[in-house]
Formats: sequence, structure tokens, C-alpha cells
Amino acid sequence: MTSQSTTEKKNIEAPERLDRRAILHELLNERWSPRAFSEKQIESWNIVSLFEAARWTPSSANEQPWTFIVVSNEETETYSAFLESLSEGNRRWAGAAPLLVLGVAKLTYERTGRSNRHAWYDLGQSVANLTVQASSVGLAVHQMGGFDVERVRGLFSIPEGYEPVVVLAIGYADGASKLPADLQQRERAPRSREPLEKFVFTKQWGTPSPYVLTQSPFLNTVPSKN
Ligand SMILES: Cc1cc2nc3c(=O)[nH]c(=O)nc-3n(C[C@H](O)[C@H](O)[C@H](O)COP(=O)(O)O)c2cc1C
Repeated sequence: MTSQSTTEKKNIEAPERLDRRAILHELLNERWSPRAFSEKQIESWNIVSLFEAARWTPSSANEQPWTFIVVSNEETETYSAFLESLSEGNRRWAGAAPLLVLGVAKLTYERTGRSNRHAWYDLGQSVANLTVQASSVGLAVHQMGGFDVERVRGLFSIPEGYEPVVVLAIGYADGASKLPADLQQRERAPRSREPLEKFVFTKQWGTPSPYVLTQSPFLNTVPSKN
């Protein structure tokens, strides 16, 4: 299928990444979590593609333990109630996103009824795929753990055995200048991460893999900005 869906040209620069150590695909390299969103609505076909990306995620026993509840800001009453369930800090900016999505995990296997200890993992991975699909068309996703679980359970009549895990604010990123001053600073702040040797080990817990040691020939071979 051709790209009716194609890329919205990105006019907002991703924040700088400190200490990039190896080559990354631009879909990953350019992803970040904005707080400023454009008023532009998301095209319906792009919305469907987000969930198609989530759909094709691998999962334990192909259980697909994810459910998404999608609310557009055009559904004003539900959107406002959903927004109200977010933590105060998130409410300050998330209301600019044209789409809010609740990610829910089913905590038991359909076939056996036993506890699915991979359910959160699988939901997280489906959100990761959704996020990559979003990036590919210039959309941005800001994930949030700061929301009232029982409130959304009530709002959306979520049954027992299903756990509201994350809220996604989705839209086209916009300039930071529309945010309050403190958030502008956070929006533009360079992103940093733990060094590879802190979490990629070999042989013994705590022993960095030679692939990621600072003297590895595979590291530091790329310019700091693509
Ligand atoms: C499970 C999860 C929960 C998060 N919760 C919040 C949140 O409640 N509020 C918020 O502003 N950001 C939240 N974030 C976004 C992270 O703070 C952000 O991804 C991190 O600081 C790295 O920044 P970047 O995504 O721009 O690279 C969350 C991210 C994840 C994956």
C-alpha cells in the first residue's frame, strides 16, 4: 500500500542527546517525549497504523494481552474526564495532545487462567512499536505513569483482571515556547542515559561486556549529531 499515510515533515528538532556512543536508526535517534503539541489533528489512517503496529508486536504465547482505549480531544466530555485523571504535573501539558490513549494489560492467560507475568512486558513492547510507527510519520508519543488508576478504571468500566498501566499523549510536536517557563526548560534539555557499561554485562553481574567498554572499537565512531 502506498503512502497516503506518509510522513509529516518534522519542523521541531529533537533535544540534543548527550554522549551518543553508537550508530542508531533515525526513528530511534529522533524519538523523544514532548510536552508541547500542535493543534493539528492526527489523520485517521495514521491513528489506525499506530494500533496496527501495536497489533503485530510479539507476545508471550501470542497472548496479545494489550488493550487500548483511545480518546480524541474532539470527544470533549470523555477527553476532559480522562485528562482529569492525570497527575497534576501531567495535566499542565497533556491537554494539548489531540489524542490520549490508555494502555491496559490483561493479567492472566486466556487459555489457562494462570497469571501472565509477561503481560506488562508485552504491553510495553506494543507501546514501543506504536511509538516507532508514530515517529515514522512525524508523530510524537509521551508516555505517562502519572495517572489515577482507579479513576480510569471507573471512567472506562475496565473489568477485574485488567490493569491500567500507562497513558499516552500523542500528537505532532510543537515549539516549546508555548509552554510555561519551567516546562520549556525541560522540553529543551539535552537527554541523557546511563552508560552502556552500567547495564550490558558479561559472565558476571556487574562485569561490562567488552562490546561496550569505552575502548571498544565499535563505540564513539559516529559524529555527535547525524
Ligand atoms: C512507563 C513510563 C512512565 C512515564 N511517566 C511519565 C509521567 O508521568 N510524566 C512525564 O512527564 N513523563 C513520563 N514519562 C516520560 C519519561 O520521563 C521520558 O521518557 C524520559 O524522561 C526520557 O525522555 P525522552 O523520552 O524524551 O527521551 C514516562 C515514560 C514511561 C516509559
